Amino acid sequence: MVEDAAYPNSSLFAALDDVTAAPVLGAYLDHFAADPGVRAVKNRSLDLLAAASPATVLDLGCGAGHDLTPLASLVGPAGHVFGVDANAGMLALARTRLAPSTPVTLVRAHSHCLPFANASIAAVRCERLLLHDAQPHRTVVEMARAVVPKGRVVLTEPDWGGLALHHPDQSVTDRLLTGFTARNFATPQAGRMLPSLLRSAGLTPVLIEIQPQICDYDLIDMMVEFRDCAFWGEQQGLLSRGQSESWLSMLRSARDKGVFTCALPHFIAVGIKPS
Ligand SMILES: C[S@@+](CC[C@H](N)C(=O)[O-])C[C@H]1O[C@@H](n2cnc3c(N)ncnc32)[C@H](O)[C@@H]1O
Repeated sequence: MVEDAAYPNSSLFAALDDVTAAPVLGAYLDHFAADPGVRAVKNRSLDLLAAASPATVLDLGCGAGHDLTPLASLVGPAGHVFGVDANAGMLALARTRLAPSTPVTLVRAHSHCLPFANASIAAVRCERLLLHDAQPHRTVVEMARAVVPKGRVVLTEPDWGGLALHHPDQSVTDRLLTGFTARNFATPQAGRMLPSLLRSAGLTPVLIEIQPQICDYDLIDMMVEFRDCAFWGEQQGLLSRGQSESWLSMLRSARDKGVFTCALPHFIAVGIKPS
């Protein structure tokens, strides 16, 4: 039997009509946003937007709204921020976290069909949406349509294909993690695709960076749920029950010895719309 998880499966971020999961997804995002590696990615994406001094910013896939207040500070009192998400539950949660006078408008929309006129937004930011999107090129085309000429699009995505988790049985571990990413993400390698997605949407990629997120045991267990991975391995015939328990206990042993090692790369890319 798989133990009840304290956090949801990542695949729930693609269940856009499920409003009931918003509180638990919000708690997951809170935990994630508190991680130093993720904070560094967020701060870098904000700096890259600030460099262009945009008057209007769209945060696409704003989730629980972690970046909306910093974006409002960035655009200043004369500017405006649009937080867009397809999940009404996430927008309701974001609304409760915004101070009343913050210049932010929350909009429910799917990323493939944004309710903004052509060339009407000065800059667009999008963090960790594309990995949940089976057609990420459609989302980037929409961003490119909405942004003004010379405007910038700042994208950040992890690349789950680049997850490095050390385990004495590396070959089984790689198979279990590949299974996890396939079950949970529509586009697990969104990170490495960013420059080509920008270029195909008619934007000029001007910057690509990688920021490593060093994950401790608890953080990566929240994301991948080791017990679920082991159970899936049993179901697939990759592991016997005993081997599955042994796989889990080796991870815990590495944690207890202080040698648990795991890193997830986050890609950051900037595209500029030609004038
Ligand atoms: C992993 S969360 C990231 C939230 C936020 N960007 C952050 O960094 O905390 C992904 C968010 O994108 C939203 N989302 C996923 N696919 C979407 C789509 N195609 N259109 C609009 N929103 C989408 C989900 O509802 C969720 O709130």
